[in-house]
Amino acid sequence: MNRSIRVLRVGQRYVRDDRTLTHLCLVSRALGAETIFLGDAEKDVVGTLDEVNRTWGGDFRAILGTPWRKVIKDSKAEGRSVVHLTMYGMPLQDKVAELRELEKLLLVVGGPKVPGKVYHEADYNIAVTSQPHSEIAALAITLHEIQSGEELKSAFGKSRLRILPSPRGKRVVEEK
Ligand SMILES: C[S@@+](CC[C@H](N)C(=O)[O-])C[C@H]1O[C@@H](n2cnc3c(N)ncnc32)[C@H](O)[C@@H]1O
Repeated sequence: MNRSIRVLRVGQRYVRDDRTLTHLCLVSRALGAETIFLGDAEKDVVGTLDEVNRTWGGDFRAILGTPWRKVIKDSKAEGRSVVHLTMYGMPLQDKVAELRELEKLLLVVGGPKVPGKVYHEADYNIAVTSQPHSEIAALAITLHEIQSGEELKSAFGKSRLRILPSPRGKRVVEEK
C-alpha cells in the first residue's frame, strides 16, 4: 500500500524546548512521515531540516503556522484519518490492525496540554501504554507499528553523505 503519513504537533509549551521539537521532526522524517505541522514560533527548525535533507536525502517538510483546527479539518476533507496519540486512548495493540488499513493518516501528538477538542475531533485516540511518557516515543512506536517495520528499509534518494553500515566505527561516503 502506498501509505501517506503526516504529523501534527498541538499544544503550547510553557518553556521553549527546541531539542524535543527537533527530535520530533527527525523521528517523523526517519520513520516514514512526509510532513510535520508545527506552530508559528518554531521557525528555527526549518533550517535544521533543510540541512538534514541536503546531507542525508529526502524532502521531509515542516509546515509552520497553520492552526491545528485547520490542519485537522483539511486532513479530514481529503479523506485523511486523524489519529491522536494520548495515554487516555485505546491501546495501540488493539487497534493497530485497523490503523494499518488506512491509506492516509494524520498522527497528532501534544505538548504538556492538549485542547479537549482534539480528543473529540480525532477519528482515533490511541495509547502507547496507559502510562505517561513522551510524544517522541509515542510517535516512534506508532509509526513503526503502523508500517509493520517496513519504514526501517526506506531509501532517502539523492544525498550528500551516505552511511555504510558497519559493525564497528563510522563509515561514511561522500556522494559525487
Ligand atoms: C508530556 S505528554 C503529556 C501527557 C498527556 N497527559 C497525554 O494525554 O498523553 C505529551 C504528549 O506525549 C504523548 N504521549 C505521552 N504519553 C503517551 C502514551 N502513553 N500514549 C500515547 N501518547 C502519549 C501525547 O501525544 C501527549 O500529548
